[in-house]
Amino acid sequence: MLFFSFVHTLLGITNSVPEFLNKCKPFIPFTVNIQFRVENLLVTNKDLLVPARKRGYAVGAFNVNNLEAVLAVSEAAADEKSPAIIAVTPSAIKYAGLSYISKIAKTAAESSAVPMSLHLDHGEDYDIASKCVATGFTSVMIDGSHLKFEENIALTKRVVDLAHPKGVSVEAELGRLAGVEEKTVEEKEAILTDPDSAKEFVQRTGVDALAVAVGTSHGAYKFKAEPKLDFERLKTISMKIDLPLVLHGASSVPAWIIEKASKYGAELGGAKGIPEDHIKKAIGFGIAKINIDTDLRLAFTATVREVLMNSPKEFDPRKILGPAKDAMKEVVKGKMRLFGSSGKA
Ligand code: G3H
Ligand code: 13P
Ligand code: ZN
Repeated sequence: MLFFSFVHTLLGITNSVPEFLNKCKPFIPFTVNIQFRVENLLVTNKDLLVPARKRGYAVGAFNVNNLEAVLAVSEAAADEKSPAIIAVTPSAIKYAGLSYISKIAKTAAESSAVPMSLHLDHGEDYDIASKCVATGFTSVMIDGSHLKFEENIALTKRVVDLAHPKGVSVEAELGRLAGVEEKTVEEKEAILTDPDSAKEFVQRTGVDALAVAVGTSHGAYKFKAEPKLDFERLKTISMKIDLPLVLHGASSVPAWIIEKASKYGAELGGAKGIPEDHIKKAIGFGIAKINIDTDLRLAFTATVREVLMNSPKEFDPRKILGPAKDAMKEVVKGKMRLFGSSGKA
C-alpha cells in the first residue's frame, strides 16, 4: 500500500485506479499484484456507468450526509454484490465538512469488495468541482442547468478540462427539474430536455454522463396528479446519445415508509414519487445512473421516530441511529434489485 501511494504521488496521476494501472503497465512487471492490492479503492462513474448502459441496468447514486448513510450504502452494496455511487451535495459538504465526508466515503470504498465511486452531486460552480477533484472525488457533476445553453456548455467544458486529465468523470445536466435542489425550482420553471440540444451538448462538452429532465423532480412531492414521465422524449434522447443517461429526482416515496413515518407523528400528506415500473422502463431507455436521496431521508426519519416513540427511555445514539441506518440499508438494497445492479459487482 505504501509502495502504491509512493508511486501514485510520484507520478502525480489521476484519481482513477484503472487509468493509473494502465499507465503503470509498461513500467511495472508485477502490475497484477498491485491491481489485486488496490482494487478496493474508488473507481470513477465512467467505470461504473458505461457497462451499465451497455448491459441495460442502472447504478444507484445515493446521497449521504453522515456516517450512517455511508454505512447503509456500503453494507447494502456488499450484501447485494452491487456497484454503488456515494453522492455528496454542496449542502452535505457544508453540513459534514469536505474532509470528513470524503474520508468516511473513501474508508467505506477501501474496506469494500465491490466497486464504488465518490461523486459530487449538483456541483454549483467551478470552485466546488475543483475542490472535490483535489480531495479525491472520482466523479463530479457540474450543474449548469439553470444557465443559458452556451453558458452551460462553457462551464461544463471548463470542468471537463479540469477533471479529465486527472481521470475524474464529469456529469452535466441539460433541462431543468422541478422540485428542491440547492435552490427551489418551481414546477412552471421546469424545462424538459430537448433531444437535439442534448446531442450537441455532449458533443461540445465531452461529458461522461448527462442528466436529463423528463418529468421527475426532487423531493417528496413530485406529482399533484398521476405520476407521468415523458418516455417518448427519453427514448429519442437515448437514440441520439449513447452515453450513460442520468435520472435525478427518482425516489419512489414508498407508501409503507410514509405510513410508518405518519404512524409515529410525521406530517407528509400528499407525498408522491416515481412508481417502480416507471423506473424500470426508464432504464430500458438508456438511464444508467439513478439518484436517490428522498427515500433514504424518509426511511431514516420514520425509523428514528419509531425508536424514540417506542423506547422513551432510550438515550444511546447508537440505539437510535443504528436502526435508522439499517432502514436506509434495506431501502438501498431494494433499489439495487430494482435497478438490476445486484450481482453486477
Ligand atoms: O438533489 C439532491 C438532493 O435531494 C438535495 O440535497 O439538500 O443535500 O442539497 P441537499
Ligand atoms: P430524490 O429527491 O427523488 O431522491 O432525488 C435525489 C436526487 O436527484 C439527488 O441528486
Ligand atoms: Zn438531483
